[in-house]
Order: sequence, then structure tokens, then C-alpha cells
Amino acid sequence: MGIKRIAINTGGGDAPGLNAVIRAATLAAINHGWECYGLRDGFNGIFFPERYEDGGSVRLTRDRVRGIAHLGGTILGTTNRGNPLKYPLHMPDGTVKEIDRSDEIIEYFAKKQIDALISIGGDGSLTIAHALAKKGLRVVGVPKTIDNDLDKTFTTFGFDTAVAFATECLDRLHTTAESHQRLMVVEMMGRYAGWIALHSGISGGAHAILLPEIPFDLDIVAEKIRQRDEYGRGYSLVVVAEGARVIDGQLSVLAAAEVGQAERLGGIGEQVARALSKKTGKDTRTVVLGHLVRGGSPTSFDRLAALRFGAAAVRALADGQSNVMVSLAHPNVQYVPLEQVAGRMKAVPLDSDTLMTGRDMGISFGD
Ligand code: F6P
Repeated sequence: MGIKRIAINTGGGDAPGLNAVIRAATLAAINHGWECYGLRDGFNGIFFPERYEDGGSVRLTRDRVRGIAHLGGTILGTTNRGNPLKYPLHMPDGTVKEIDRSDEIIEYFAKKQIDALISIGGDGSLTIAHALAKKGLRVVGVPKTIDNDLDKTFTTFGFDTAVAFATECLDRLHTTAESHQRLMVVEMMGRYAGWIALHSGISGGAHAILLPEIPFDLDIVAEKIRQRDEYGRGYSLVVVAEGARVIDGQLSVLAAAEVGQAERLGGIGEQVARALSKKTGKDTRTVVLGHLVRGGSPTSFDRLAALRFGAAAVRALADGQSNVMVSLAHPNVQYVPLEQVAGRMKAVPLDSDTLMTGRDMGISFGD
């Protein structure tokens, strides 16, 4: 069956490059003669049309997507609450029940005669996309996340921008840390994977990098700092991924998971700073980069990857493909079945040459 109309949505945490995907996909769809619509805030435009002046979806035209490729965020809005497969239903007795609202999405597409969906998101959104495809919707996924923790793609867009900004922050922290002979502990986003911490930590000259993949011993990190002091390098930079933990320790969680919402990580930076300050006696400060690494314009790498993903998603639909994700198999894009991606996570491999580079350069990983 030919395509006349498609919809695009963005789900989960935003990442620089989302707008570039939207632009390329819209222009490519228009070139095929298709109408293109953007759904508001993940699937909220479908569930709560009354909340939106435009009824929850916006017609994407050439004009609407002009001048957006370089903008961070998403013009469609996004949410990482209210997964449609595990939607929180608040009961009169105060409890919250999980319900599956995916049938409402299928009905919406049928009613609006929208033939296919391009779903741009991370593991959560791609798992939803896979479930919708299994129910018969034509879906192509586009991998997004600053965390770079999606499997079956060389990288996700958003990651390079996050690493570039985090590296610049580390460059800036070197000078102030050195001037005061301080210990600086920098906490980085990344959920359960250490990609942002590892790549920015090595590029930005960190002296210790603590990753979720390598539970750490703070005595080993403290020893590294003491050694630097002995060599006359009285300052140190320690990068800590938000999902890192001490050997036999717990994850540092800011807010526990709720129905339809994942747990929020954070706080490990301050814990590490306090412990290291005690062990080394050094004047110590903590910096949490947090959402700063998620904002701003995409780097040219991310922008180009995002534009290529958007156009490739439309090519997949035009070729009759569904239930696949566009992926970067450097130097080309390829398509992988969504079932190989849904519910999987890509951690930093312990034998990666990037990690080995850090070890070869004498960076401590606390192990
Ligand atoms: O997945 C991207 C990410 O930025 C993680 O690195 C971080 O743990 C999480 O999202 C934060 O999400 P929120 O937007 O709920 O603060």
C-alpha cells in the first residue's frame, strides 16, 4: 500500500539534533508527495488533543521546518513520562495502575489516515515503536540519545554535542582547579553507561574517570591524587558518571522509578567529593554538568548524522520497510530490526581502545 501521509514524533529526553531529523524527514517526505505531521510531546498530542491549540499535531511544511536544523531541543516537544505501554492511571483510592494505551495510538493513525510513523527516541521510545509495529503500524525508528547507550548503531546523535560541551567544561575547570590547587569532581549524565564521562574525560584531560562499567575503589583514586601532589601537580580533576558506584555500593538515585517513569540518577559526584576530600585533605569542589550537556546547537557531526537519519527513515518507508531502526554503520547508514534494539543497552566495552587509551595515559579508573 502506498503512503500518502506520515507522522513524526520525538520521545524521551531531548538531544541536540532532533530538529535536524525532523527537517530532513519532512523535506524528504514532501519530495515523495507525502503529507507530514508532527505529534506533540511524544504521544501526548494523541492522548490529550484538548491541551493543544493545534489539536495535538502540527502539519510539517517546508516553511515550518525552515531554519531549525541548528537548533537544540525539539520543535514538537517531548516527554519522558507516561510511556503508552505502561501508562500511569491514577485510581480513586490513590494508587497508580499501569495500563497499555498503545491501541489508542493505532486507532488514531487509522482515523486520521496516517500511514506510517517515524519515531525518534532512545531505548524507551524504540521499545514503544517496536510494540506499535507488532500491532501493524508502519514504523521506522531513529536513534537519539546524548548517552550513546543504544545498541546496533555506531553512535546516536546528541552524543558528540554532549561530549564536546563537557570537554570544554573540563578545559575551563583545569585552570581554576590549578590556580587554587584544588580537587574538582565533575558529575556527568549518561544513565547506566559511561560514554559521556569516558570520552569527555579523556579528551578533557581528567586524572580519574569513574564509570558505571567499572565499580571503583576510592582509596585507589585518593592514591592517584596524592601521587599527583607528590609530583608537584597539586590539583586534580575527577570525572564521575552519574551511574557510577563504589565496589559493592549502590547507585545514587535522586528519585525512585514511578509507574511510567524511570528512576533519576544523581548525587554520586558530591559523595565522591566528600570522601576524597576526607581521604586526601584537599580543598574540593563538585560541579554537576547535568542538563547543560543536553542543550545547545548540535555539532556538525550530530547535525549531519541527524539529517542523514531523517532522510534515511523516509527512504526506508518508501522502500516498504517497517519495524526497523536507522543506524550508523560508519561510514554509511543501514537498517536494523527494532527487535534487536528494543530493551537493550550498550555499555562501554571493557576492552575498548578508548578505555585502554585512558589507562595507557595513566588515568585512574579506580580499579
Ligand atoms: O537519557 C538522557 C538523560 O539525559 C540521562 O543522561 C539522564 O539520566 C536523564 O536523561 C535525565 O532525565 P530528565 O530529563 O528526566 O532529568
